[in-house]
Amino acid sequence: MPAGGKLVIKAEEVNVLDQQIPSLKPGHYIKLIIQDTGIGIPKEHINRIFDPYFTTKQKGSGLGLTVVYSIIKNHEGYITVDSELGKGTTFEIYLPAVPKKEKKILEPARLKILVMDDEEIVLEVIQEMLKILGHEAIGVRDGKQAIEVYKEAKEQGSPFDVVILDLTVPTGMGGEETVRELLKIDPDVKAIVSSGYSNDPIMSEYEKYGFKAVVPKPYGMDELKEVLRKVISS
Ligand SMILES: Nc1ncnc2c1ncn2[C@@H]1O[C@H](COP(=O)(O)OP(=O)(O)OP(=O)(O)O)[C@@H](O)[C@H]1O
Ligand SMILES: [Mg+2]
Repeated sequence: MPAGGKLVIKAEEVNVLDQQIPSLKPGHYIKLIIQDTGIGIPKEHINRIFDPYFTTKQKGSGLGLTVVYSIIKNHEGYITVDSELGKGTTFEIYLPAVPKKEKKILEPARLKILVMDDEEIVLEVIQEMLKILGHEAIGVRDGKQAIEVYKEAKEQGSPFDVVILDLTVPTGMGGEETVRELLKIDPDVKAIVSSGYSNDPIMSEYEKYGFKAVVPKPYGMDELKEVLRKVISS
């Protein structure tokens, strides 16, 4: 404002009815009010202020309001101006209000997960990844232990939500036999089969064997997250 003055900016949510503002679809809008007590705009200028290169300033580009108009139009909004010479100017801007999205994007809650793998280091890494993802992880080295621990947890009233079973355990009971036993204890067991041998027929026909999902080794956090989401929503 060349001669000084006061600038007031307000925002409110408004409901625009059908035909209330001809160029706006009915709905919720954010209305911005930008009001100044500056020099005002002469009547003969008011229809030109949004035109490119229209300026009354010494060093103005005349593009300011053109850009404003374009941005608002691209957002399916609307701008009006009301001005009185010597008194001040009020711009009103309408922008469509976006409803707040419900943040329910199926982020699984804290799950209790049993992991079976004969390789100590693999077991540790998976448990660590599960903990980072916010879950509780308990590791066992073979199928026999897996069945014991699963059964015990169920009997104690704090069952496992998911079981991740390694397919091949050279020194003990592997995933195939384990899931068969787990199904006897709990027909709803959510078992994931994991293996480095991705061409094993069990990996492609896992459902036939009683698994709910498959995760080929090696896998990272993203794959783990995805497969858990899959079994939980199954
Ligand atoms: N709040 C206001 N009060 C009085 N006149 C205004 C007001 N806003 C815009 N104008 C008039 O509209 C003209 C065009 O404005 P616009 O923002 O497009 O360009 P500019 O301000 O002149 O240049 P620039 O944006 O590059 O500084 C201004 O030169 C001025 O004459
Ligand atoms: Mg400007």
